[in-house]
Amino acid sequence: MDFDLDQTDALLSTTRAVRKRLDFDREVPDDVLLECLQLAVQAPTGSNQQGWRWMVVRDADKKQALADLYNEAGGEYLASAARDADQASQQGRVIDSANFLAQNLGKVPVLLIPLIIGRLPDNSANAAAGLMGSIMPAMWSFQLALRSRGLGSCLTTLHLGKEQEAADLLGIPDHMTQAGLLPVAYTKGTDFQPAKRDDVAKITYLDTYKNPIRPD
Ligand SMILES: Cc1cc2nc3c(=O)[nH]c(=O)nc-3n(C[C@H](O)[C@H](O)[C@H](O)COP(=O)(O)O)c2cc1C
Repeated sequence: MDFDLDQTDALLSTTRAVRKRLDFDREVPDDVLLECLQLAVQAPTGSNQQGWRWMVVRDADKKQALADLYNEAGGEYLASAARDADQASQQGRVIDSANFLAQNLGKVPVLLIPLIIGRLPDNSANAAAGLMGSIMPAMWSFQLALRSRGLGSCLTTLHLGKEQEAADLLGIPDHMTQAGLLPVAYTKGTDFQPAKRDDVAKITYLDTYKNPIRPD
């Protein structure tokens, strides 16, 4: 199969964390969500377990309750990051944007919580990679599928500081883990740009960590 690399590369390089350009006023149909989720579950999972589940939250009171939990768990972090950041820098803009999302989360048409069956033991990188690695690729595929249809999202994790409270609110059983919270909306415009990233050749090594793949 010949892919159109201009299209696929544009999708991969311009799928951004969208916050300020989420359209709060345009409805997101279930059919669009399900189409994107159907693509997302083509993602890999450890031992092909496919333990993913997807919680769609549309109810206004529940969305506001999740927004409140997000701010209770992450508000202090966001406020201190805003105090410390140079407003003109890329990081300053990210923090400003993250604060905007925190203040407006309840207005986003859909809050999607990806779930994975299982709980993490303490201090096991293997278990952490296996559990989260079996849901994060699907979350990213979901975001790519949204982007290709004119919608956007932002992978967030701040509400997980109040994971139990969110589980109680949504009736999520104890044997499941929430992997984050994805606000989902159509985007205002679709002209997103690649982000500034370092040259990967500078952080890629050949055979040993002492050996940069492209020495200076
Ligand atoms: C594991 C993870 C957790 C994140 N948590 C949050 C979050 O809680 N709130 C938020 O606004 N953005 C969150 N982000 C989004 C990042 O801030 C964002 O990806 C980063 O600033 C780079 O922007 P870009 O994705 O547009 O390149 C998270 C991203 C990742 C990968």
